Amino acid sequence: MPPHRHHHLLLLAATAVAVAVASVRLPLAASKSTLESCSSSTACPALLSYTLYADLKLAELAALFSADPLAILAANSIDFAVPDPADRILPAGLPLRVPVPCACSDGIRKATSVRYVSRPGDTLASIASTVYGGLTTPDWIRDSNGILDAKAKPDAAFDAGTTLFVPLHCACFGGVDNGLPAVYLTYVAGKGDTVTAVAQRYRTTATDLLNINDMATADLAAGDIIVVPLPACTSSFPAFTSDYGMAVANGTYAVSANRCVQCSCGPGNLDLFCVPAPLADSTCSSMQCANSSMMLGNFTLLMTSAGCSVTSCSYGGFVNGTILTTLTTALKPQCPGPHQFPPLIPPPTSSFFETYLGPSPTPMPSEGGVNPMMAGMAPTSTPAESSGPPPAVGRHAGGFLGVLALSLVASLLW
Ligand SMILES: *[C@@H]1O[C@H](CO)[C@@H](O)[C@H](O)[C@H]1NC(C)=O
Ligand SMILES: *[C@@H]1O[C@H](CO)[C@@H](O)[C@H](O)[C@H]1NC(C)=O
Ligand SMILES: *[C@@H]1O[C@H](CO)[C@@H](O)[C@H](O)[C@H]1NC(C)=O
Ligand SMILES: *[C@@H]1O[C@H](CO)[C@@H](O)[C@H](O)[C@H]1NC(C)=O
Repeated sequence: MPPHRHHHLLLLAATAVAVAVASVRLPLAASKSTLESCSSSTACPALLSYTLYADLKLAELAALFSADPLAILAANSIDFAVPDPADRILPAGLPLRVPVPCACSDGIRKATSVRYVSRPGDTLASIASTVYGGLTTPDWIRDSNGILDAKAKPDAAFDAGTTLFVPLHCACFGGVDNGLPAVYLTYVAGKGDTVTAVAQRYRTTATDLLNINDMATADLAAGDIIVVPLPACTSSFPAFTSDYGMAVANGTYAVSANRCVQCSCGPGNLDLFCVPAPLADSTCSSMQCANSSMMLGNFTLLMTSAGCSVTSCSYGGFVNGTILTTLTTALKPQCPGPHQFPPLIPPPTSSFFETYLGPSPTPMPSEGGVNPMMAGMAPTSTPAESSGPPPAVGRHAGGFLGVLALSLVASLLW
């Protein structure tokens, strides 16, 4: 068992969840979470599994995670070349992967770049469990912000307009799983989740998840945090590049170099494949390989007696506004066909659930991944205002069909 993996007991703000949704107090439950100890200050790429707690503009969601809106779309294989992507309203209940730089803080891997401006009615508990879906804890927020007075209580009302550091769970585990490149997704268990179901959903095995998370049993309780390795394409950019260490999960995309370059992974192989991004314009530096007419992503094939000689112009990282390119030649047993890109889906909208599910879904058991506090919530049918803060959770009417629909969507999307 690797020494750097251990379990840690954290108090789940189950009370606050209940208060926020139904004004019912539940007994405090202790939830388990996988923590990765660290010593290097170098951040590594990680993904967070996050379910939208309200209809949110993509720009609002990106602000919650201090992330680039396009990077969020790309990480979910959602078309990022659509017009005005940041103004798109994404529906409550939509499960997404959010890419974050996973840093090291107090010896534990945490995403430390996230800032949150508190709104009226927020408590430490509601920020942790509702806004951030259990990816952080009231304790972590309190400690990172030196909150000492009465407001330090998880359920105490918090001053609106305060900018808070919000450290989030994340993990990298060296970017490998069983010796193969991997990106780690941090997953907050929903009600009724099982390790087997999570493993199926992410095409891994329960054994692998139990090992990685150092779990003795397959029991999962709502609010438990586990990490899930996703096969990934890794880069070998030099350490002085700003996108050093880039890793892209199979079937998804990443945008880099000031949105000039897009990289994708899979489906045919796990070689990172980068080309000029759809929105690349004249402000982007040259993407042509030196001494060649080839652009990023171009390749030529030459049959030789020894096999197929593949010369390709590939991306080498971004430094000081310059896109590095490298021209490499490799001998392969067979010539590759045209490059296949992972499929993209259009940005989901509020009518997404109806489009995919029809008006009245048949009741079926939850497949998990739905946030515990989603129980009793239905997705709103009206989009959020195009400006102003995201709506408070209390606005959502109770309902059960929504949860069922969300479970279905979760399985469709993943
Ligand atoms: C990558 O994804 C594709 C399409 O989903 C799948 O067929 C392939 O097996 C995956 N590769 C790995 C290594 O998981
Ligand atoms: C490109 O060609 C020039 C002149 O022929 C040469 O000096 C330079 O090293 C070449 N650059 C690369 C990357 O091959
Ligand atoms: C080379 O790459 C550019 C940019 O992606 C593309 O537009 C062009 O069609 C490619 N050329 C060849 C011959 O594949
Ligand atoms: C980037 O530019 C700055 C200022 O021009 C320079 O000091 C630095 O060395 C450059 N970095 C690299 C990796 O070239």
